[in-house]
Amino acid sequence: MKIFLDTANIDEIKKGVDLGIIDGVTTNPTLVAKEKKDFKKLVKEICEIVKAPVSAEVISLDAEGMYREGLELSSISEHVVVKIPFTPEGLVATRKLTEKDVSINMTLIFSLNQALLACKAGARYISPFVGRLDDIGHNGFELAKNCQEMILSYGFDCEVIAASIRHPQHVIEAIKNNIDIATLPFSILIQMMKHPLTDIGIEKFLEDWKKANS
Ligand code: E4P
Repeated sequence: MKIFLDTANIDEIKKGVDLGIIDGVTTNPTLVAKEKKDFKKLVKEICEIVKAPVSAEVISLDAEGMYREGLELSSISEHVVVKIPFTPEGLVATRKLTEKDVSINMTLIFSLNQALLACKAGARYISPFVGRLDDIGHNGFELAKNCQEMILSYGFDCEVIAASIRHPQHVIEAIKNNIDIATLPFSILIQMMKHPLTDIGIEKFLEDWKKANS
């Protein structure tokens, strides 16, 4: 399973990349706004660090505006994936951009019907938001799993990004359901690495080593 970082923070991205296990980055307008930096410069900087797919989202709501922004964003770097929210206008923009060989991540996917339409429009990635579905009492991973099965059974050239991940258990669900990609806040990547028995184990090994060598 690929791991993307869901952040626009350069320090977090550098730390993740240094670990050697990051396959890409996703950003959204909320995450970019937190950084208080020029959007295009920030996207360029992230691409140069990650050298792998980096999703950057359009702000326009009409197909023409999304198309124009998508072309501008994709010209920043070969690594840019244009993120387009799922709307009828978004579908039109996705089709037009894919015809220009621009990679699209269709975001804010909350149903299997939306996922099918995104795939048919040519999206390279679809992002079901598992956490936000769980928040309203639905089963977010049921959707992610159904998206993955649909893509496999129809042979769409599209990968599922499990998005809106809230805790390490969500990552375990992604692994168990063979989801292509999970995009994680940096804090969850840190939580994934921790286990008290690992810390206790290291302490005991060192203690025994010292005893034997003193
Ligand atoms: C995905 O690409 C989104 O940026 C993200 O996962 C949204 O997550 P949230 O529901 O925690 O805002």
